[in-house]
Amino acid sequence: MKEKSIIGLGLESSCDETSAAIVADGKVILANIINSQIDLHSDYSGVVPEIASRAHLENINIIIEEALKTAGISFYDLDYVAATNRPGLIGSLLIALQSAKAISFTLNIPLVAINHLEAHLYAPFLEGNELSFPFIGLLVSGGNTALYKVIAPGQMQLLGKTVDDAVGEAFDKVSKYLGLGYPGGPVIEKIAASATERKLIFPKILPDPGDRRFSYSGIKTAVINYLKSNPQCDISEVAYAFQERALEILVRRLFDAARELGIKTLVVAGGVAANGRLREMILSELRPDERVMFPSPKLCTDNGAMIAGLAYHYFMSGKFDSLNCDVMSRV
Ligand code: KG4
Repeated sequence: MKEKSIIGLGLESSCDETSAAIVADGKVILANIINSQIDLHSDYSGVVPEIASRAHLENINIIIEEALKTAGISFYDLDYVAATNRPGLIGSLLIALQSAKAISFTLNIPLVAINHLEAHLYAPFLEGNELSFPFIGLLVSGGNTALYKVIAPGQMQLLGKTVDDAVGEAFDKVSKYLGLGYPGGPVIEKIAASATERKLIFPKILPDPGDRRFSYSGIKTAVINYLKSNPQCDISEVAYAFQERALEILVRRLFDAARELGIKTLVVAGGVAANGRLREMILSELRPDERVMFPSPKLCTDNGAMIAGLAYHYFMSGKFDSLNCDVMSRV
């Protein structure tokens, strides 16, 4: 007889997406409702923390109800509840975590507090890929750019991270200077693809091959300076040159780390992992004995499914959090 599935609710509100998802057995998504606040923040060319937390508060209950309805279950079918508690905007993080605590307390089910960065790297395993450790995880988003060796759930070794801006943040800032709006990633990718002149070259970022760090403030300044001295330039050419340099360092670091450590499985996740040119660059460098996993675009962005999915493994090994657990802006 088939055993009953373990059903988890995952809540996410660390930045500008409010999301609630229902996941069965850590791998089957029954519902993944995501409410993006992009429209609320686009006039400011970035996320305004106060606006974000207020919008999460207004939306979270509606989104939880919608997730339960979509999955065709009730609160009483839940075996555990999980929420992101780190890293992120404090006021925003509080909304999902406090909601999860209320649900845990009321239903008397375990609470699992999740590291959002670890959850991003779990996303491909919700789409039919077999979970296998160790892997090299490249996390590329609006708030983070980091490389990890992931050994098991809860065991991530940081190999390198950005010393200044995150890669998505650089896309957003460059987009703002090019007058292309927010979020910058998708629009820069699109306009870069239309560039016919591809001669412009920005300086290499941290060129030392032994270096595992990332940096994006220098290239951002190089783009701004170029635009100031060349006001009549073709912006598609600038977008192309910026994107090539911004992505190239990610690809180099990913493969250098994997090959030095002899690890053949690669996971690339976070908002910037949706970039088609990044995927193309990684696939063209991949050797036959290596495999790379990217989440589908919907799971690249912040979502509750990755929270519920990863939390399943904590739940199964009895790693729960107390109602006293807190939010953390950094990890
Ligand atoms: O993971 P995510 O949804 O959340 C935050 O970290 O906030 O990532 C959002 C980031 C933004 O900076 C956005 O510009 C970037 O991901 N992004 C992209 C693309 N789509 C989204 N960057 C490059 N190319 C894309 N296609």
